[in-house]
Amino acid sequence: MVKIGNLALGDFPLLLAPMEDVSDPPFRAVCKQEGADLMYTEFISSEGLIRDAAKSVQKLDIYDYERPIGIQIFGSEIESMRQAAEIAEAAGPDILDINYGCPVHKVACKGAGAGILLDIDKMVSMTAEIVKQVKIPVTVKPASAGTITASASWRWPKGCRMSAYRPSASMPAPASRCTRERPTGLT
Ligand SMILES: Cc1cc2nc3c(=O)[nH]c(=O)nc-3n(C[C@H](O)[C@H](O)[C@H](O)COP(=O)(O)O)c2cc1C
Repeated sequence: MVKIGNLALGDFPLLLAPMEDVSDPPFRAVCKQEGADLMYTEFISSEGLIRDAAKSVQKLDIYDYERPIGIQIFGSEIESMRQAAEIAEAAGPDILDINYGCPVHKVACKGAGAGILLDIDKMVSMTAEIVKQVKIPVTVKPASAGTITASASWRWPKGCRMSAYRPSASMPAPASRCTRERPTGLT
């Protein structure tokens, strides 16, 4: 039996990965109908959430028939992420997920998503702060196993209940490559 905190998900649960502009409520409704055992929202910007940005707040919409459901947030600042975690928890999800895997230039080059893996201490502290903030289980989704094991300073954040990898080659961009130009080799 797979369990995340007190959530029992059966022996071989089918999880819907979070996907920006894809895993919105209508798409999730179809996935639920087709047997998804656990679903996640699209990722939500912590900076957007704490400023009440309509696009971010709208992504908090979850419905009882979707349960169990996780809300995923991302960001580079620990305090913004702590506040965003508080806002996300108030929307009533069963799980809170943190995105540490997005390789997209505008996210990673701001130190969020996979970009935070360039500073493992910060990632560990951020996770600890969020685990302390919320009562629901916290899961994390870092970049691929290859990426994290390639990091000499890698260590698992304490307190998270599950980790899913983004399996593609999602190397965070070194800061020196985060110019106004799109770095080569990133998706
Ligand atoms: C259009 C699109 C949007 C995505 N958005 C997110 C997201 O918001 N959060 C996240 O953790 N992963 C996101 N992902 C990654 C997927 O959840 C999943 O991990 C990935 O697509 C699987 O790896 P692959 O694309 O290399 O097969 C996205 C992927 C795609 C294709």
